[in-house]
Amino acid sequence: MSKTNEKLNAIDPDDIGYNDTPNQHFSAVLDARLSRRSLLRGGAASIASAFIGSSALSACGGSNDTVTPTTPTTPTTPTEKLLGFAPVAKSLLDSVIVPVGYTATAIYALGDPLTAATPAYKNDGTDTDFENRAGDHHDGMEWFGLSADGKASLTSVERGLLGVNHEATTDEKYASFFLHANGGTSTLPRPAAEVDKETAIHGVSFVEVRKANGKWEYVKDSAFNRRFTCLTEMELSGPVRGNALAITKYSPTGLKTRGTLNNCGTGKTPWNSFVTGEENWAGYFTRSATDDTARGNDKSVASLKRYGRAQGGGSRHGWETGGTDDKYARWNLSQTGTSNNGSDDYRNELNGMGYIVEMDAYDKTKLAKKRTALGRFAHESAAFGKPVAGKPLAVYMGDDSRNEYIYKFVSTANWEAADANSSNALAMGDKYLDSGKLYVAQFNADGGGKWVELAMSNPLIAAYAAYKFADQADICVNSRLAGDAVGATKMDRPEWCSVNPANGEIYYALTNNSNRNINATGSSQLVPDAANPRAYTDMKGTTAQTGNPNGHILRMKEGAEGSAALTFTWDVYLFAAEASADAGKINLSSLTNDQDMSSPDGLAFSPATGICWIQTDDGAFTDVSNCMMLAGLPGQVGDGEKVTLNYTKADGSNLAVTTYVGKKPTADTLKRFLVGPAACEITGIAETPDGKALFVNIQHPGESTSAANIADPTKYTSQWPSNAGYGAGKRPRSATIVITKNDGGRVGS
Ligand code: FEO
Ligand code: CA
Ligand code: CA
Repeated sequence: MSKTNEKLNAIDPDDIGYNDTPNQHFSAVLDARLSRRSLLRGGAASIASAFIGSSALSACGGSNDTVTPTTPTTPTTPTEKLLGFAPVAKSLLDSVIVPVGYTATAIYALGDPLTAATPAYKNDGTDTDFENRAGDHHDGMEWFGLSADGKASLTSVERGLLGVNHEATTDEKYASFFLHANGGTSTLPRPAAEVDKETAIHGVSFVEVRKANGKWEYVKDSAFNRRFTCLTEMELSGPVRGNALAITKYSPTGLKTRGTLNNCGTGKTPWNSFVTGEENWAGYFTRSATDDTARGNDKSVASLKRYGRAQGGGSRHGWETGGTDDKYARWNLSQTGTSNNGSDDYRNELNGMGYIVEMDAYDKTKLAKKRTALGRFAHESAAFGKPVAGKPLAVYMGDDSRNEYIYKFVSTANWEAADANSSNALAMGDKYLDSGKLYVAQFNADGGGKWVELAMSNPLIAAYAAYKFADQADICVNSRLAGDAVGATKMDRPEWCSVNPANGEIYYALTNNSNRNINATGSSQLVPDAANPRAYTDMKGTTAQTGNPNGHILRMKEGAEGSAALTFTWDVYLFAAEASADAGKINLSSLTNDQDMSSPDGLAFSPATGICWIQTDDGAFTDVSNCMMLAGLPGQVGDGEKVTLNYTKADGSNLAVTTYVGKKPTADTLKRFLVGPAACEITGIAETPDGKALFVNIQHPGESTSAANIADPTKYTSQWPSNAGYGAGKRPRSATIVITKNDGGRVGS
């Protein structure tokens, strides 16, 4: 989600921090003192033609969409050089730019119809029926192959489904202004028709894509196309299912909830299902100014505050004002009923959001399942460790808010290889994701760290004074509070994580943190520590940006036990920075003009090539370049050096922070591959199994447009993708692009 909003009155809805627990400071101090240490499912899908536009996608460097149709069938050449392309320069153009020899083509944008009966998208604010259209703000994305006869396939390279997150929408003062003819209402109450459009563009879509006559396109009338919105019925699964904390008017038994919201990163299970992370969901709900008293100041108040919903909090879009129907009422968390258990209102509704949600990509009859054992926080991606027969599975996750934590889930069940081919994916999810142990990470200054289990058996949790946990379900719902209790390490906003297929090491993008401060004051600021070692000033024009404005990429290597290890080692793969920044304190990875970046966010290793793709969602470097994607060929934990950063504090004393900098990249191991259009974020990555088609999402182009300028397209800060020949109207649209190499080779070679 956006960090680039430059409107004067705008807030950045993604840059959130609620973690001001004081115990972390104690633990940080302690750390500093003690250590310098075949699927046979599916059905026939019919085929339709879909418009593909691309004529101006590549303004510099890359070719336009004139690629010769090819049907590459040659096997991958083992000697093919990776990162053989010429790096792309930074750019402020309103275009997608890829290297010479590559083609980028928009294929699936906000509003595109997903049924034969749905009218073409007019893109003028009059469209309706968004339950049958592509949602907004395309984000994380996964590929699910389809054979020619419409069956699930792990090998198909020319037909498949994309599972696409639709995280949010471009808004200002409540309204998603590009969605409404006149920009929509900026006051409350919101008209029901506007609310209904806006709720429908959130969630997830599954869409069929195929290569036909040498070109990729989406299939408008595929029987596989499916939408989940933030009102679609879903099952709670795992410890929270049926728990008192999950009881609502909608589900008095606590078994179900409605919708998935603010879906950011994704993941793919070893049994070929889709998982999606619910990120900044709290801000969509309102809570009355007197609700603490209405609740009798019970422990739910502490929970709501820790998750960002103090009483009096207004909602992002005002959806609760759309009318008297229950689908609007659910956005109000206030205790209004008289029941003892919440079965007559939505006081517990927030406990139904914040999970990793599993979906069967191929079977439209299956409800999505919220895997509550994996904890509740601002989830990004869920990265599975390499499955080993007879060993538990590990799932790595991050909580993207300032000063939040890194988590791992370890399954109770040991992996059985035959389960990869199960014909019932969600039953595999029941087996591996509903029972297990949830851990949070503590990083030590000596380059080591430990996983601390979040369970009632831990006395720090059982006796935690700030919140009295009842059971494991309570720990799952209140993972952040449990992390506080055990002294987890506060991180610089954990975004996506991914596992390097070459060696199993786990990479985390830590996107930035404005709260790192050498002279930290108050409860939310933190002094730099070993794993989050930078605090500096970066100028954006005349504006000073402080903290860790550019972010870094941390990596971890599990101990000898592998997935179930309780200890790990770590270093920093890359420090994002401007090439011109101080190499001793800021540009610690010595990035050049072909490599410099800010705010790494999306991060995924390609199973086909092993390339580490890094995508940015940046607001710090956007005076110099639009957001971008880079290709890296990393080494391993410990391949670099130990570095001590000496800071002079305001009182004149020295603050020495020792960290571990991974081997510096060379021109052959890190290159900028893509720059996106104006005011966008680059996110989401999926590929065909042969690595020859790479799907990437362009989120919120033109988000810095002022809603007041809705009638004047010349004032939109982006007109992509219509300026690239895709679709009607001038309003900018989030969209999926496909990138191919003109010679038919693997992308990134
Ligand atoms: Fe939705 Fe943290 O990015
Ligand atoms: Ca700068
Ligand atoms: Ca993200």
